[in-house]
Amino acid sequence: MSEKPAKRDTLLFSPYKLRGVTFPNRIVLAPMQMYKTGPDGLANDWHFQHLTKYAIGGFGTVMTEALIVEPRGRSSYGDCGIWSDDHIAPLRRVSDFLHECGVVAAAQLHHVGPKASRQRPFEGLRPLGDAEAAKGETPWQPVSSSPGRSVHEYHEPRELTVDEIKQLVDVYAAAAKRVDKAGFDVLDIHAAHGYLIHSFLSPIANMRTDEYGGDINGRMRFALEIAEAVRAVWPSDKPILYRISCVDWRKDLDDRNDGWTIEDSIVLAGELKKRGIDMIDCSSGGIRAANSMMDYAKKRRKYERGHQVPYAEAIRREAEIPTMAVGVILDGPQAEAILQAGQADLIAIGREALFNPHWGLHAAQAIGADPDWAHWPPSYGWWLELRERIGIEDQTSK
Ligand SMILES: Cc1cc2nc3c(=O)[nH]c(=O)nc-3n(C[C@H](O)[C@H](O)[C@H](O)COP(=O)(O)O)c2cc1C
Repeated sequence: MSEKPAKRDTLLFSPYKLRGVTFPNRIVLAPMQMYKTGPDGLANDWHFQHLTKYAIGGFGTVMTEALIVEPRGRSSYGDCGIWSDDHIAPLRRVSDFLHECGVVAAAQLHHVGPKASRQRPFEGLRPLGDAEAAKGETPWQPVSSSPGRSVHEYHEPRELTVDEIKQLVDVYAAAAKRVDKAGFDVLDIHAAHGYLIHSFLSPIANMRTDEYGGDINGRMRFALEIAEAVRAVWPSDKPILYRISCVDWRKDLDDRNDGWTIEDSIVLAGELKKRGIDMIDCSSGGIRAANSMMDYAKKRRKYERGHQVPYAEAIRREAEIPTMAVGVILDGPQAEAILQAGQADLIAIGREALFNPHWGLHAAQAIGADPDWAHWPPSYGWWLELRERIGIEDQTSK
């Protein structure tokens, strides 16, 4: 290991309080779908090991993958569910272990809307068809704010009626109650990436002429009704995060500028705050696209580090609401710099956590928060500290 910096106080490893929940540090495992359930949507040992390993990897908060609020809101037959009480027990097992490790347990609520009935990403992300039906994975018709496919080969979604929209608001509230029963401390409502709630927000997707469409107030109505309904049933001492696509990226990707903008996001954040939402989880893109990452791949664009951080900063400053930054945040110094610059309050780590489940422990050493291995579980740290003290003679230099 390279020379360590001297011990210092950092923001990344300082606690943070929202309502009755104290986050032990600012690092959050980003929600990441595993596509590893059966058609029953029940979390299993895969999900247990996937999530709990981060609790010993220095993550102060571990967030589940998207938990689907009703079966037609699944992207694939591998999605994890929260649409029935049967889903509670295996998730409870996860939250119990997270708590045993002193880690905050967070869960995400989700409905994919127009992006339903697809293959798992690593199978191709194509719409389910005859081949999948023959294997028991029967396609179904997705629902959305309006007709119009996310990408041209997907199943055409059906427009939700006003009655169905109102029922869905209740479906989100019922799912939130189950997450509470499963012992989770924090909720994140997924309204990003071109999925159901985003399909209402974005003027590219929402063509409705009733009270759920039209100007920004109409397009925000569904998102705000969900916020109100979930806040009403989610315990008042537990925070709620709201994940939004801060911009639709149309200008960048299609050289058009007719999508949802950062100014719209600031208005939405302010309205969510009035309804008791505690933090905005700041992502981007996904409308009229398979997903944002596929767009990057297709356009052969490279990521810029922290490319969504400016959105978290703008919303935090303009709407005066805490934010979580996510997206190509790769190491401890970068995460610490974002917090020091006042651009966000929490930092979510996705793919870099898949690469390195001990990301948080390594970040602590890299920025001098843990020179003496105290953040590591003693079962690991005691040995590693001793090995470091003994030192290793470099045979190759002889
Ligand atoms: C395997 C995988 C699954 C994902 N599943 C979800 C999900 O369930 N919900 C969600 O909001 N975002 C999901 N995302 C997006 C991540 O939460 C995160 O926003 C994105 O990966 C960017 O952060 P990163 O650069 O640190 O990976 C997923 C990303 C990956 C790589």
